[in-house]
Amino acid sequence: MSIAQRLKGGGMSVIVQMSEKAQALREQGRPIINLCIGEPDFNTPESVAVAAQEAITRHDTHYPPTAGTDTLRDAVCQKLLRDNDVLATSSEVLIANGAKQLLFNAFFATLNSDDEVIIPAPYWSSYLDIVRVCSGISRIVHCGSSAGFKLTPEQLQDAITPNTRWVLLNSPSNSTGAVYTEQQWQALAKVLSQHPNVWIMTDDIYEHLVYDQDYCSFLQAAPALASRTLMINGVSKAYAMTGWRVGYAYGPQTLIKAMTSVQNYSTSGVCTIAQAAAVAALHSGRTILHERRDILKQRRDRLVDRINTIDGLHCQTPDGAFYLWVHCGELFNTHTPDGSLIHNDVALCHYLLDCAAVAMVPGSAFGENQYIRISFACAWDELEKACYRIDQACQALHTDEAVTR
Ligand SMILES: Cc1ncc(COP(=O)(O)O)c(C=O)c1O
Repeated sequence: MSIAQRLKGGGMSVIVQMSEKAQALREQGRPIINLCIGEPDFNTPESVAVAAQEAITRHDTHYPPTAGTDTLRDAVCQKLLRDNDVLATSSEVLIANGAKQLLFNAFFATLNSDDEVIIPAPYWSSYLDIVRVCSGISRIVHCGSSAGFKLTPEQLQDAITPNTRWVLLNSPSNSTGAVYTEQQWQALAKVLSQHPNVWIMTDDIYEHLVYDQDYCSFLQAAPALASRTLMINGVSKAYAMTGWRVGYAYGPQTLIKAMTSVQNYSTSGVCTIAQAAAVAALHSGRTILHERRDILKQRRDRLVDRINTIDGLHCQTPDGAFYLWVHCGELFNTHTPDGSLIHNDVALCHYLLDCAAVAMVPGSAFGENQYIRISFACAWDELEKACYRIDQACQALHTDEAVTR
């Protein structure tokens, strides 16, 4: 059996490579601290777990509608009105197995070969994989630190071609934590208003993890573009429900219908118990979201201070999500105590995993090779220990190869 052409060109992502190496070292007994993690270390809220148990007890265990249960789609509409000033009807909402499946459904439903998707870098690496599998071309736009790692209107204008079908915007961003303001959205919307064939996909999965400002979704800032905007979100990050696999999308009915067909060809509707849990999560109020966000904010502030004391590493304070985007380029072309050259971010991450027993993701996994991504979704004790080890390992790097022999 030969594997279909569409799967060629993927390979194992750097994130998976690092995670697998970390796991193998842990199995050998090394005390690995894993800072690759893309999920909160909290538990799913108790009320949510109880709602799932109740769904089982009342035998809510039959095939659900492909687009999602009425109760969950109604809960999503209420959430959109409450949090995002969006007046949605349930026929404009699709429930899927996580935000990831919604990205897939949307691209599979709309891309023909050679259609382009504008993706600002740093990006979540799955975007590229999904676009490729759906026959599209990712048009990557590098967003530098001077613009806060955000796409500028000029960059957007320059990236649009006659083949552009989508621009994919992620705020707060995985991996930089960058959060777009209302004015920044409006500036991008102004460009997009001149290009009626370009659709906008927003990945809002980190919406509830914004620390120092009010969250503003693209749609809130640019309601005039609603007829060609798809908003993707889910319960994974906000409610520590990554394993329940529930995401939701809001968009124009024809698109939602096409995405529902794609889902119908593959998974059908999402597990009824997980949907019941998601209803409880969306109705659970803001207190738990704020408590958890405040814990993460404290960790963020302490970690930023600590990382910036380490020679060769620098980072800005991220406005959202739970990642530090740490510049490490100054450590390139140094040598490890055993003489190996640190020639890039991947080599540095391997060294820090081997010598400091700390797993982190090289920036090249997100399209920028001068950085590493450090997740702060784990307890402060672990983060503190990790920083100490990283510091020691960085101090052991030499610029002079001769010293190391
Ligand atoms: C930017 C971004 N979007 C989407 C997802 C996936 O979310 P879900 O668990 O809902 O599939 C992730 C997970 O890491 C992410 O970082």
